[in-house]
Amino acid sequence: MTESITDTTTDDSAVATTAPREAGVALLEVEDLAVEFRSDDGSVRAVDGLSYRVDAGRTLALVGESGCGKSVSSLAVMGLLPPTARVVRGSARYRGTDLLALSPTQHRGHNGTHVAMVFQDALAALNPVHTVGYQLAESLRARTGSSKREARRRAVELLDLVKVPNAVQRVDEYPHQFSGGMRQRVMIASALALDPDVLIADEPTTALDVTVQAQVLRLLAEIQAERQMGLVLITHDLGVVAGVADDVTVMYAGRAVEHAPVRDLYAAPAHPYTRALLRSVPRLEAGGDRSVGGRLPVVPGRPPAPGKVPPGCPFHPRCDMARDVCRTDVPQLDDVAPGRSSACHFATELLGGVRA
Ligand SMILES: Nc1ncnc2c1ncn2[C@@H]1O[C@H](COP(=O)(O)OP(=O)(O)O)[C@@H](O)[C@H]1O
Ligand code: SF4
Ligand SMILES: [Mg+2]
Repeated sequence: MTESITDTTTDDSAVATTAPREAGVALLEVEDLAVEFRSDDGSVRAVDGLSYRVDAGRTLALVGESGCGKSVSSLAVMGLLPPTARVVRGSARYRGTDLLALSPTQHRGHNGTHVAMVFQDALAALNPVHTVGYQLAESLRARTGSSKREARRRAVELLDLVKVPNAVQRVDEYPHQFSGGMRQRVMIASALALDPDVLIADEPTTALDVTVQAQVLRLLAEIQAERQMGLVLITHDLGVVAGVADDVTVMYAGRAVEHAPVRDLYAAPAHPYTRALLRSVPRLEAGGDRSVGGRLPVVPGRPPAPGKVPPGCPFHPRCDMARDVCRTDVPQLDDVAPGRSSACHFATELLGGVRA
């Protein structure tokens, strides 16, 4: 069953434990999630009413500039918020079970097996003094109680799964012997070790050069499709989601401001912030390289810090379409076309009059 993803696989049982996942089944439904941090000035809200859903066999991209709440919302779903943060509202249902209502011990039991995460700073997470295989095997042993021999066999399978060449040999090498792209594959392998239904990959390619980014994204897309996993792909770069995601949720200041199927969003964004993000995606010229020439400016200014979100539309100080109403009235995330929603007072104008 792994031909299409692991042409180096030596043993098909690498993914044989995957339970069938029916396409279209809702695996993870985040609803109205709000997270606050305690600070000297009181509480500040880093995530404010975020909702999204990821189904089996689908990839949802969670996109927005740095600081908009992508990582914090994911850590909340995993029950891994720092002690200064707390969920103040909302739910995160995995196949109907609200993960946020579980005890920490119960929550940990879901992590890895049902919902797993590749963390944003994953490349730094490998211990330099142990071999890659030892680290994969030990975390497996801790979770499954398998023997050393079995865990090592599985570590080789996992490296095969993420297309690390010569896995049998490389399993005994140290992290510094792996390139950045290969280390990121190891971290993805580690997240996939317990065959999760949902994988949250937090900026999995940001630290990599453009060619390697594309390879790692393609790998993730292949594994996701092969296993009918639900994938939540977090990125600040709308350019990377085009060939990978089915749907996109754009975040700004802790909120979802647009949700759409990826093609619709590219064809006609329904929020000025999305439009600005799209304008910042460099076009690939013939023979060109996105890494050459730097990025185009997104939009002047910066997103507001939590606690400094302006009244009305949070985007209004940076929006070239802002009018008086935008400074006073908070736009809600409303349906604007089939399968599409936008939190902009003038979304239908942007879409050229298309109405839900
Ligand atoms: N440990 C923390 N303490 C206080 N504020 C934090 C902490 N971690 C994140 N934040 C704030 O929460 C907001 C969202 O952060 P984050 O989810 O990491 O953004 P991103 O979208 O870049 O992943 C940011 O403005 C950040 O400053
Ligand atoms: S509501 Fe107003 S300020 Fe906000 S994105 Fe729409 S036009 Fe811009
Ligand atoms: Mg982040």
